[in-house]
Amino acid sequence: MFSQSLVLLVALVPAALAAQAPVFVPPALTPLSTSTNYTGATNGTLSNQTVVPGKVFDRFIQIWLENTDYNDAATSQAFMELKSQGLLLSQYYAVTHPSEPNYAAVVGGDFWGMGDDNWYNIPSNISTVIDLLEDKSISWASYMENMPDDGFQGFNFTSPNYLNASAPDYTYYVRKHNPPILYDSVVSVPERLARIRNFNDLVADVNASAIPQWLFITPNMVNDGHDTSIDFASEWLEFWLPTMLADPNFNDNRTIILLTFDENESYNINNRIYTLVLGNGLPANLKGQEDDTYYTHYSAISTVQANWGLKSLGRQDTNKTVSNVFSFVASATNYTNMNVTGDAVPLTNLTTVFNGPLNAAQYVPFTAPNMNASGAGGQGVFVAPSLNTSFTAAVAPGPVNLTALGEVVPASGPPNGTVPGAPAPTTSGSGGSGGSGSSGALALAAVPGALTLALGALVGAVLL
Ligand SMILES: *[C@@H]1O[C@H](CO)[C@@H](O)[C@H](O)[C@H]1NC(C)=O
Ligand SMILES: *[C@@H]1O[C@H](CO)[C@@H](O)[C@H](O)[C@H]1NC(C)=O
Ligand SMILES: *[C@@H]1O[C@H](CO)[C@@H](O)[C@H](O)[C@H]1NC(C)=O
Ligand SMILES: *[C@@H]1O[C@H](CO)[C@@H](O)[C@H](O)[C@H]1NC(C)=O
Ligand SMILES: *[C@@H]1O[C@H](CO)[C@@H](O)[C@H](O)[C@H]1NC(C)=O
Ligand SMILES: *[C@@H]1O[C@H](CO)[C@@H](O)[C@H](O)[C@H]1NC(C)=O
Ligand SMILES: *[C@@H]1O[C@H](CO)[C@@H](O)[C@H](O)[C@H]1NC(C)=O
Ligand SMILES: *[C@@H]1O[C@H](CO)[C@@H](O)[C@H](O)[C@H]1NC(C)=O
Ligand SMILES: *[C@@H]1O[C@H](CO)[C@@H](O)[C@H](O)[C@H]1NC(C)=O
Ligand SMILES: *[C@@H]1O[C@H](CO)[C@@H](O)[C@H](O)[C@H]1NC(C)=O
Ligand SMILES: *[C@@H]1O[C@H](CO)[C@@H](O)[C@H](O)[C@H]1NC(C)=O
Ligand SMILES: *[C@@H]1O[C@H](CO)[C@@H](O)[C@H](O)[C@H]1NC(C)=O
Repeated sequence: MFSQSLVLLVALVPAALAAQAPVFVPPALTPLSTSTNYTGATNGTLSNQTVVPGKVFDRFIQIWLENTDYNDAATSQAFMELKSQGLLLSQYYAVTHPSEPNYAAVVGGDFWGMGDDNWYNIPSNISTVIDLLEDKSISWASYMENMPDDGFQGFNFTSPNYLNASAPDYTYYVRKHNPPILYDSVVSVPERLARIRNFNDLVADVNASAIPQWLFITPNMVNDGHDTSIDFASEWLEFWLPTMLADPNFNDNRTIILLTFDENESYNINNRIYTLVLGNGLPANLKGQEDDTYYTHYSAISTVQANWGLKSLGRQDTNKTVSNVFSFVASATNYTNMNVTGDAVPLTNLTTVFNGPLNAAQYVPFTAPNMNASGAGGQGVFVAPSLNTSFTAAVAPGPVNLTALGEVVPASGPPNGTVPGAPAPTTSGSGGSGGSGSSGALALAAVPGALTLALGALVGAVLL
């Protein structure tokens, strides 16, 4: 069986190598029309919630692209054009490598020692910015391109290849790029799951003028540059962003849009990422300007806290070094930033070396936040109902190497080897736990797990 598969693999290689680099194709007729290239249909619109006014803005939208060095973004077509419309945050840093820990950090205020892109379910006693927003009745949603259903919990999702109809189906959606779904405090609440939506829902919500006040937007694996390049992502931006910026249901004069990357591409330099603040809520005198204050993904939490006077998470969102508030918000809210320059800029290009509940080699349990922390919102620390506030880092056991014990961290998923909300794996083939998400190419259905992975990587790299 293995050798037959090898023959298949070898037979596919020439065809794969002969394929062209992927060419951008719009996934929909316009950014504001629903598309059959997305599996999930529109599932109605969110209902309008009362707008809670912020001190500087009433809506905060984050859009994340993938894996691009600062200079490569700076010289790409879309960013060269967008720069004059926005404020360049020229000292903005990702917090670690690879992707998933950055997505976890931007809502949870920590990456929990994670140094890989594996499946984790962060326990429900761990809070996120969503708790802070809901505490003040501020509406939120996240929109994931090519995710099939609201609150989809599978590891990834594969759909027909709209870039090349003769190529195998393609994995456009991955769980690791979906921040709220990583947290059980979100997943265990149905009303919250319904706010993790796909791009057909985004179209419906914009057209109904029902866009919430805090948004996280993840383009698919080709449009965000992950499987492609900054040039491809740049073409997607040129297709998608102008229409969205021009729509007052999305971008009004109280809207701030943070366009950035999860991390840079080169691990051998520090993790600086090209970041623009756009949106009609950006003060006009800042358009085309540059702000060289040191910021990180934690600044995206602290800035929101300052704007709406929110509680904090008591995690890195309250670590003054790494959580500067965007200057134009800091000055309007009397928050004093730290001046972090030169050698004082932390190196965030390191990976796998941190103690944490999601690091199997240096495992420590999830401990309580710093209850005495003072965040940019000037309020106390949010306490999840199930949090043991006395289980602090000071009393927790020291790091344990679970890998050496043949164990994995308790938060590893999927629970019991099954995909929530998807068919249970078949007892034959390994790696079959993709549920409805891993249909892959039909022709490859009989290939064993390991080889499917190899083929998947090959297809992902060149067959588009
Ligand atoms: C789906 O993608 C194709 C390109 O492969 C495009 O021509 C078509 O317009 C898209 N469909 C819809 C409904 O937008
Ligand atoms: C549509 O929304 C309802 C209610 O939020 C949810 O139960 C259902 O799973 C959603 N369906 C899809 C296809 O997203
Ligand atoms: C939401 O409110 C806006 C403005 O008040 C209104 O135009 C729109 O129809 C409402 N949408 C829904 C889905 O209720
Ligand atoms: C902002 O938008 C609101 C609602 O459309 C409008 O009433 C107001 O005049 C606008 N303010 C500015 C400064 O453009
Ligand atoms: C991280 O970046 C610094 C500064 O550019 C560099 O000196 C260092 O070698 C990098 N670390 C690794 C592990 O590549
Ligand atoms: C705050 O962040 C800096 C830079 O990453 C780090 O060295 C320091 O240990 C952090 N402090 C706490 C209390 O986590
Ligand atoms: C900031 O401080 C100034 C001067 O002390 C004061 O006038 C202003 O009201 C303060 N603004 C806020 C948002 O607290
Ligand atoms: C920040 O610190 C650097 C290095 O010490 C110094 O040159 C710069 O003037 C400081 N900037 C501010 C705004 O204090
Ligand atoms: C949080 O929950 C996890 C999983 O149940 C548990 O191991 C940990 O001790 C809890 N931590 C706190 C601070 O409540
Ligand atoms: C943990 O154990 C693994 C397997 O024995 C080993 O390869 C690794 O170096 C250890 N890591 C640490 C930090 O002790
Ligand atoms: C999965 O694990 C949970 C927690 O250990 C347990 O309660 C549940 O019964 C298990 N489900 C199955 C189908 O084994
Ligand atoms: C999709 O998820 C399944 C597990 O559910 C995994 O075996 C497969 O490698 C994943 N594919 C990609 C491209 O991430």
